[in-house]
Amino acid sequence: MEKLYEGKAKVIYKTEEEDKVIVFFKDSATAFDATKKAEIEGKGVINNTISSLLFELLEKSGIKTHYIKKLSEREMLVWKAKRFDLEVVVRNITAGSLCKRLGLEEGLELKPPLVEFFYKNDQLHDPLICVEHIRLLNLAEDWQVQSMKEMALKTNQVLREFFKEHGLLLVDFKLEFGILPDGSLAVIDEISPDTCRLWDAKTREKLDKDRFRFDLGDLMEGYRRVLEKIQGG
Ligand code: C5P
Repeated sequence: MEKLYEGKAKVIYKTEEEDKVIVFFKDSATAFDATKKAEIEGKGVINNTISSLLFELLEKSGIKTHYIKKLSEREMLVWKAKRFDLEVVVRNITAGSLCKRLGLEEGLELKPPLVEFFYKNDQLHDPLICVEHIRLLNLAEDWQVQSMKEMALKTNQVLREFFKEHGLLLVDFKLEFGILPDGSLAVIDEISPDTCRLWDAKTREKLDKDRFRFDLGDLMEGYRRVLEKIQGG
């Protein structure tokens, strides 16, 4: 298969159809601007499984995504999208860069949820930006920014409720958006414990990539527990 793009955790391959691509989930884990790296056997398989399940949930809930179907253990078939150089983060509980930037304690409930935009730019280390900066840099039209915010909040409602039913707290997560071949705005990339903070609702144990970032325990054990819970375990 012809490679179109290789990122830190995924590879994008061409298909025979111009408007579809394959996302291949690798086992690589990176953190802190890729200064911390590791290969974690089986991570790609579990992230593809979790992402596919969550994209199916969003589609069923009327949220447009790039997802078409899961093709194999590590491969997902998706619509080819024109990506925005933006990361949209939704937060329900304080954690991570929000605590660091604003000097907040971890674990405080955010009501209403907070939406943040980051400029996807490795050289600049993905800075936090505001709507005026998005306009200045011509990263998206104002109405697209508004739609991304609305879709991110709707995604939050759907995911938060779903995780809650399965004994998990959705602390925060990152979404990416793109324009599909039919011109629609859609959630793209992946939704997995690499891109979401998920805590056990009872114990508040961290089951996501923070285990790798801060050496909190076996990463795969956390990810497996997330999968077991959302599959009904
Ligand atoms: O680091 P920060 O607290 O801003 O991250 C917020 C959320 O976005 C976390 O769930 C994190 O895993 C996710 N994120 C991501 N990719 C990035 C930055 C953050 O998936 N490049």
